[in-house]
Amino acid sequence: MDITTRLTRLGRDPHAHEGAVNPPVQRGSTVLIADADELYSDDRKTYGLEGFSTHDRLEAALADLCGGTGAVLAPSGLQALTLAVMAVCTRSGDHILLTDSAYGPMRRFCTEVMAGYGVETTFFDPAATADELAALCRPTTRLLALESPGSLTLEMHDVPALVAVAQARGITTLVDDTWSAGLYWRPLEAGVDISMQALTKYQGGHADVLAGALVTRDAELTARLRRMHKLLGLGVAAEEAWLVLRGLRTMALRMAHQDRSARALASWLESRPEVARVIHPALPSHPQHAIWARDFTGAGGLFSFVLKPVPRAKVHAFLEACQIFSMGFSWGGFESLIIPCDPQVKRAVRTGAAEGPLLRISVGLEATEDLIGDLDRALASLR
Ligand SMILES: Cc1ncc(COP(=O)(O)O)c(C=O)c1O
Repeated sequence: MDITTRLTRLGRDPHAHEGAVNPPVQRGSTVLIADADELYSDDRKTYGLEGFSTHDRLEAALADLCGGTGAVLAPSGLQALTLAVMAVCTRSGDHILLTDSAYGPMRRFCTEVMAGYGVETTFFDPAATADELAALCRPTTRLLALESPGSLTLEMHDVPALVAVAQARGITTLVDDTWSAGLYWRPLEAGVDISMQALTKYQGGHADVLAGALVTRDAELTARLRRMHKLLGLGVAAEEAWLVLRGLRTMALRMAHQDRSARALASWLESRPEVARVIHPALPSHPQHAIWARDFTGAGGLFSFVLKPVPRAKVHAFLEACQIFSMGFSWGGFESLIIPCDPQVKRAVRTGAAEGPLLRISVGLEATEDLIGDLDRALASLR
């Protein structure tokens, strides 16, 4: 079945609940247990933090979507990332290899929280070759954390090559695959151990939910993640799980529109005299376009562009002149967003500074010509 069809069916079992098309929102804290022997059992759910049937259905749907065998939910994408780090790096002296293009709060969690527990992080260039990465591995390296493409600078990794380095050394690989939402890329098939999704973005799709997930194809690793999930008490509200399940039904259609629209906008921006460079992996101008073309089947709505140098006040005038694009964090929703990124770009290996102001666009579901018209009007304020 095509993925569009599968998304309408994943995680559903209507006849288990009166034939209603969607599962109920099963809220709860206490779980009543009839058999005293089972009260302290690890083999069954004993408390609401572990989730109920709504959560189980979402986990099953995500595992299926991503080609995994198990999924663990978290209350946000960031908590899914930090959960993975804590489940894999459990001892002082453990070492993390983290891409220099990683999502900022993940970076800070590693350098501010994990460092305090004696876990050191080494950043590597997202364009690193297998040999360059291998040179950074230590006997104590436990985690290779990737994000491809990075959500601000859209740099891509050669994931199969980097994963081979990790596999040869018994290092667990985590990939933040929020950009493709598990729809346009299958990192688990490339040998990645944990595929992370910020469900807040495309899966939720309506800027009204916060959630994250870790998907694996290894039962022992899923059990480890679930154990840490329980230790940290990362319960997810049933309403959030339900909303994400609902979002999944339309995700492929939304993303197909966002992908088409984003590529049209990106190509149009490339032709503009105010723009120095557009950074979109699906455009031939992207330095790692070949990696995208090899590994991905689509692109979604997130890309960045660099303006020719202009004073900050002009950039702010441009942003404020947009009437359809709004300024705000997050992405993947039905509404188009634009943000200036420079304050967020923090790099350890080589400078992340672009030749001009870096802006990021998340394309929503509006008509493409309205979005182009909006940017066209607003770009006039740069002149
Ligand atoms: C690439 C990436 N990963 C993870 C997250 C975290 O997701 P959440 O907002 O659900 O915590 C974000 C949020 O913007 C993100 O851009």
